[in-house]
Amino acid sequence: MIWETLLEHAWAARENAYAPYSNFRVGAALLAADGSIFSGCNVENISYSLTQCAERVAIGSAVAAGKMEFLAIAVVADTQVPISPCGACRQVMAEFGVPVVMMANRAQRLEMSLEELLPRASAGILDAPP
Ligand code: THU
Repeated sequence: MIWETLLEHAWAARENAYAPYSNFRVGAALLAADGSIFSGCNVENISYSLTQCAERVAIGSAVAAGKMEFLAIAVVADTQVPISPCGACRQVMAEFGVPVVMMANRAQRLEMSLEELLPRASAGILDAPP
């Protein structure tokens, strides 16, 4: 049931995608532990590398609203197979402990844990012996 709601939010956010360079529109919706939902779309830039992915826009928006605990994220695009979050977005999901990712196109859904998508995300980083 919550997936239906999250996917609806993600498709709605996709409508606002700013993607004049790739014409590839992406939407995301992030569920916070308190039940609130934060949406994102991709926001491209003429300097391509400045492009923001939909997932990171959603996460940034939630963090800006003071949310730090999350239950799931949905990401959608009109693709032939369900879209995969890029590596950078996976790392940011790991930073904020987003445990489950639903990837969807118009016809299919694929649910995976973040651990499956990005094993050992932060293991050892900044971990030095005393
Ligand atoms: N994009 C996302 O927003 N999320 C993803 O998971 C993959 C890629 C965007 C970035 C860029 O605007 C366009 O899709 C093509 O890479």
